[in-house]
Amino acid sequence: MERTFAIIKPDAVKAGKAGQILARIASAGFTVRAMRLQHLSRREAEGFYAVHAARPFFGELTDFMSSGPCVLLCLEAPGAILKWRDTMGATDPAKAAEGTLRRDFGTSIGNNATHGSDAPETAAFELGYFFRGMEL
Ligand code: CMP
Repeated sequence: MERTFAIIKPDAVKAGKAGQILARIASAGFTVRAMRLQHLSRREAEGFYAVHAARPFFGELTDFMSSGPCVLLCLEAPGAILKWRDTMGATDPAKAAEGTLRRDFGTSIGNNATHGSDAPETAAFELGYFFRGMEL
C-alpha cells in the first residue's frame, strides 16, 4: 500500500465539482484516509508550493490556491502516487487524456482542478504539511 497527497483545487470546489471528483476517486479504487475542507492563506499556499518559488507563475499560483476552499486528501492504494497522477491526467487540461479529471474538470494550466504528489519524498512532505500523524 502507498499513500499520496491530493487537493481538489478552489476552481473545482467553487464550481460544485468536489462531489463528482470524490466519486471518481472512490470508483478508481482509492481509500480516503484523511480529508479536510480548508481555505488556505496566501502564506500557507506559498509554503506548500515553495519548490516553485522562482517560477514566473508563483504569484498567480499562490493567489489562485488561496482564492477559496480546497479539499485536502490523503489517498491510499497500491502504487497510489502514480495511480493518482494517471487519474488526474497531464497538468495542462488541454493536453490531458480523455477520461482524466483535469480533462473533465480543469479549464487552464493554472485552474486545473486537482493536485497530486509527484514522488514518495514529495508525498511525505505534502502529507506532513497538512495532516498531523493522528489524522492519518
Ligand atoms: P500542481 O500539480 O498543483 O503543481 C504546480 C502547479 O503550478 C500546477 O499544478 C499548475 O496548476 C501550476 N502551473 C504550472 N505551470 C503553470 C503556468 N505556466 N501558469 C500557471 N500555473 C502553472
